[in-house]
Amino acid sequence: MHRVLRFPHAQRITGYIKNVAPGLFIQELLTQPGAVGAICPSSRYLARHMARQVPTESDGLVIELGAGTGAITQALLDHGVAPADLMLVEYSRPFVQRLRLRFAGLDIVHGNAAELSRLVPAGRKIRAIVSSLPLCSLPEHQTRAILQQWQTLLGQDGVAIQFSYHLRTPKWRQYLAPQQTRSKIVWANLPPANITTFTFGATMRAA
Ligand SMILES: C[S@@+](CC[C@H](N)C(=O)[O-])C[C@H]1O[C@@H](n2cnc3c(N)ncnc32)[C@H](O)[C@@H]1O
Repeated sequence: MHRVLRFPHAQRITGYIKNVAPGLFIQELLTQPGAVGAICPSSRYLARHMARQVPTESDGLVIELGAGTGAITQALLDHGVAPADLMLVEYSRPFVQRLRLRFAGLDIVHGNAAELSRLVPAGRKIRAIVSSLPLCSLPEHQTRAILQQWQTLLGQDGVAIQFSYHLRTPKWRQYLAPQQTRSKIVWANLPPANITTFTFGATMRAA
């Protein structure tokens, strides 16, 4: 046992298990596969690339949807998002409990991203919505409701960031009419993922 703990990567592995909690992830995946929609938590490469899409030169709230065990949350904090500017929305109670232990002091809402407008503090400017929601496996009406709210909540300057395991255009894209889109594939994830970043213009807000 001591030999194993002296192994150079042992501390990193113990840290990964403690923070990312793959056991809890698998438990939730087995309980509600459609809502979890992934076989394991996001890799740190995917999490870092997601976080990098958040503008640091502007202010406002950063909302993370579907925080799970916090892989992307940690990357957002490392990217420089102030804890006071970060709000997490997670639907699974066990994940919420885990997140509250791991990130004491963050605003962690146990709620449904399809009701986001009701959960966001009134009058607060939103800088970014960072989502790892499984939009392809959620019921279609829920996916539509979620995406409509992004367009309503994000101003002209706000940005939506979503990853998907579909490396080509996923079906949910037809429900969004963004003004600008950027995509990037991150291969170092299981499975590889495509990050898409959207902004909505004044015309979209009026629509
Ligand atoms: C693919 S996992 C991503 C977990 C984590 N962000 C990561 O990257 O490892 C999707 C997460 O979305 C959550 N989720 C699914 N539907 C949701 C909803 N309607 N509202 C909020 N969270 C939801 C699931 O519970 C799960 O934690």
